[in-house]
Amino acid sequence: MDEQGQAEKILQEIPALSTTLLVRAPYPIVILNHDTSLRYVNPAFESLTGFCGADLVDTKPPFPWWGESLITLGHVEEAFQKKRIHMYENFRKKNGDHLKVKIDIMFREVQYGIQYYIAYWVDVTEETRKVDNLRSYVREVTKGQDNERKRISRELHDGPAQKLAMVYTDCRSMIKSKGLSGTTVDRLEHICIRLRDSLEDLRRLSRNLSPALLDQFGLVPSLELLIEEMNKEKDIHCILQVITSAQSVASEVALHLFRITQEALYNVLKHAKSSRVVVSISFTSDKVELIITDNGTGFNVPEVLGSFAGHSKLGLLSMSERASLLDGTLVIDSKLGTGTTITVEIPRWPGHGC
Ligand SMILES: Nc1ncnc2c1ncn2[C@@H]1O[C@H](COP(=O)(O)OP(=O)(O)O)[C@@H](O)[C@H]1O
Ligand SMILES: [Mg+2]
Repeated sequence: MDEQGQAEKILQEIPALSTTLLVRAPYPIVILNHDTSLRYVNPAFESLTGFCGADLVDTKPPFPWWGESLITLGHVEEAFQKKRIHMYENFRKKNGDHLKVKIDIMFREVQYGIQYYIAYWVDVTEETRKVDNLRSYVREVTKGQDNERKRISRELHDGPAQKLAMVYTDCRSMIKSKGLSGTTVDRLEHICIRLRDSLEDLRRLSRNLSPALLDQFGLVPSLELLIEEMNKEKDIHCILQVITSAQSVASEVALHLFRITQEALYNVLKHAKSSRVVVSISFTSDKVELIITDNGTGFNVPEVLGSFAGHSKLGLLSMSERASLLDGTLVIDSKLGTGTTITVEIPRWPGHGC
């Protein structure tokens, strides 16, 4: 006998149990008749919404808790036809407060062909508010991070990099002075090489912090440079595929796509143990699509990315926020042992009615 059968048997044997289950259930339950009229709401429903069961019995949609939600009688009928449906809805309590609920509607047919529908509600208002707060926090942090990176990049470029360049020029002209011993010249040459390397490191750091190339040359050349940097790492081969000819995009789109790629590649280096990563970009008349695929370890993607935040992992969340800031989407598909694919789709000109 399956679980449903076992439950039905026990309820037939002890009918009083059904009453207790409905009345004492900690979550709200709504029962509708087949003609969509309301048959019953339990005390948990009354205490959550403030609507009194006695006033609701036999009423038909639109129900008072629908508020301004876009739900219609058509939706209820459609749910009835499907016989089982899960959905999230924004409702209103009797006192006007917002309410977000996860609803699980089930069809039941009892003896003599009587049909009715049971909706189990879970109040997710607080949970949703927390996720929304976290998302706006990550947005602000991401914006602050971008500004701070720009500032540090500018300071590195104008300060230490300029000074190092001057020391390098001085050193080069010293080499040309008369009367220096061969050993001194060799040592100065050696210093010059080290200075040049450090200067190159500083410039690379400054470029990565705020890719000036983006404004100058656009997204694709900046991505090429990023991939070139990636290929300096051992044991990984990174490829950029430009599927359709590059098209211009809004400057904020270029910046966020660059940052998303940077963060995704950084994750590949840090977590994936991958030997190959492909970044592909394609443009349509109104959108740009970026796909980053690695053949690494993969990972279990949580249902809500925000759950990573509890462990101070904000990378994937901030990538997803960058996409939604631009009315775009970011989808993570990962399989353990196979690898990870991140697909980002963004309008080329957000806010231009694409
Ligand atoms: N390409 C990837 N391959 C394998 N695991 C990944 C990859 N990208 C992300 N992850 C997993 O997802 C987690 C969250 O990533 P992220 O939000 O960027 O935080 P962090 O990099 O700081 O750990 C990582 O800790 C890692 O376990
Ligand atoms: Mg990361």
